[in-house]
Amino acid sequence: MAINRRRLIGVFALAVAPILAGCPGDFGGGYEKVAYRERTPLTMVAAPDPPPFVPGLGAAAAEAPVLDPASAPPGVSQEMVEEGQQLFGTVCTACHGPGGAGSPAGPVLADAAWINIAGDYDSIVSLIQSGVPNPTEFPGAMPPMGGGSFSPEEVRSLAAYVYALSLASGA
Ligand code: HEC
Repeated sequence: MAINRRRLIGVFALAVAPILAGCPGDFGGGYEKVAYRERTPLTMVAAPDPPPFVPGLGAAAAEAPVLDPASAPPGVSQEMVEEGQQLFGTVCTACHGPGGAGSPAGPVLADAAWINIAGDYDSIVSLIQSGVPNPTEFPGAMPPMGGGSFSPEEVRSLAAYVYALSLASGA
């Protein structure tokens, strides 16, 4: 009995005591407490008014050029000019600029000067269909239909718009 007790004390002294000694006395330690911050409420900024709606693409193309029905080529109407204006915004503006104002990739169409064609309605239709594989003044080619896919009627509308643009320029 006495021996067992001594043994127990021995075990305590050799095994348990060092473990306890190794433990930090202050168990309130550990990670530093993260300070709690009060959030200042964000003040809502009123959204600015949206810009005014402008039909068509780009300021230059806001108004469709007006075609005089008396001098319009046969089969070309003002409705076609307006439809052509919308179609023009899908691929043609990339190179010819909004409203045909021109860009480094394609010539101005809103003037009376033509590089490849005489500028009559039929010549515009066939140029849009074929594109310009070997441009005269510009570095890159114009693909057939400008790279878009248009029905023959849509090509005629595009040509009506380009034709009216040139006439309306007065240049
Ligand atoms: C990838 C650029 C590009 C796109 C897209 C493009 N064009 Fe062109 N376009 C050109 C170039 C380049 C020329 C020829 C310029 C030259 O000969 O130096 C041209 C020429 C023309 C011409 C004849 C101009 C002239 O003075 O001879 C017309 C008309 C025309 N494009 C209409 C269109 C229409 C309509 C579309 C949309 C369906 C369109 N283009 C899309 C680049 C483009």
